[in-house]
Amino acid sequence: MFKPPLDKIVNTDDLERSARRYLPRMLYDWIAGGAGDESGLRENSETFRRFRFLPRYLRDVSACSISRRVLDRAFSGPLGIAPMGYAGLFRPQAELFFARTAKRHDVPYIMSGVSVASMEAAAEIAGANLWYQLYTTADDAINADMIRRAEACGCGALVITVDIPVAAKRERDIRNGIDIPPKLSARTILDGLLHPGWTLRYLRTGGLPVMENWAPYLPKGSSGLDVAKFSIGHGYALQTWDHLRRFRQLWPGALVVKGILHPEDARLVREEGADAIIVSNHGGRQFDRAARSIDCLPAIRADVGPDFPVMFDGGVRRGSDILALLCLGVDYVFAGRPFLYGAAGLGQDGVDRAMEIFNDELSGLMRQIGCFDLDSPSLEAVMIDSFEQTKRHP
Ligand SMILES: Cc1cc2nc3c(=O)[nH]c(=O)nc-3n(C[C@H](O)[C@H](O)[C@H](O)COP(=O)(O)O)c2cc1C
Repeated sequence: MFKPPLDKIVNTDDLERSARRYLPRMLYDWIAGGAGDESGLRENSETFRRFRFLPRYLRDVSACSISRRVLDRAFSGPLGIAPMGYAGLFRPQAELFFARTAKRHDVPYIMSGVSVASMEAAAEIAGANLWYQLYTTADDAINADMIRRAEACGCGALVITVDIPVAAKRERDIRNGIDIPPKLSARTILDGLLHPGWTLRYLRTGGLPVMENWAPYLPKGSSGLDVAKFSIGHGYALQTWDHLRRFRQLWPGALVVKGILHPEDARLVREEGADAIIVSNHGGRQFDRAARSIDCLPAIRADVGPDFPVMFDGGVRRGSDILALLCLGVDYVFAGRPFLYGAAGLGQDGVDRAMEIFNDELSGLMRQIGCFDLDSPSLEAVMIDSFEQTKRHP
């Protein structure tokens, strides 16, 4: 099986290519795809190209720090790993790779509520760098127990994802027959045969993996398929503000709400006692005509005030994207797919490499433009929006 040497992985696109080679097409599409015509997905990353930085020279840039404070804690970098469901299906132990990279680089990893590995196993590796993302279920006792477990294993924050009131229409997945159980056809079997590395590993590890966070709520020995069906049956369509209030009462630590785009929702989340939001359109995976997350930032900031932590994810592929967001007043940044591509294509090395690429690009850019410190109050002055500038001076 071909595995590119790590020094050939120069940017996050290379990680995507390595995952594409390793995974059956239907699984690659599951990660890469977006909702509807995928215009939202494409715009998420394209939007960053409009930003330009104004360098200041003749400054001593030998000391440069990418550390970043959020939620009363200093992290060694400004970029964490976003929650991604079923990561362990793409490569066994993927969630534990994320946990290890987060710990090594001292940044948060948000474990998805529909992960394969358990939060307890990930917390053993990452400690409080592990944040747990809860998908609200229709069963209050399960919600409460998951929150209790997250507290017991020392998760640093509880993240509530609110942007899935309905299952998304992802056209690649429909065409590929992604379902529980997966629909087998001549095409999917051929796809598996053409990607023997993944297929052999899948068969050797017993087929569809068990989602360990859910397994305790089923009879012992339930299969991966039983657990998946059970979790879907307890779906999250009924989630309302009442749930958020209850979670606030149950969870004593930092509470983060993910998937906010409307400034009014951002303000209400703050009023309900949450500690931060993640502005996100779910990586373009829920609907293709969602407002561009980046365009929502100014109104959200105006409504929540200057001190409330506003985090962001969606389309971040380069160090310059991170810096652009911080210049726009974002407090902390997350990325999803690059880390999952790294895990799928290259295992632990791929996840570490993804983080190194982001951090190296960011600190290189900071030195280039004479900016030493991400907590500097004059950060916004280093960037211009070339799009706005062209409009003003055509
Ligand atoms: C394969 C995949 C699975 C995801 N699963 C979840 C999930 O379980 N919970 C969640 O809140 N977000 C989930 N997301 C969304 C990510 O957390 C994040 O919002 C998005 O991927 C950010 O965009 P990016 O991939 O362009 O960085 C998932 C994204 C992908 C690609």
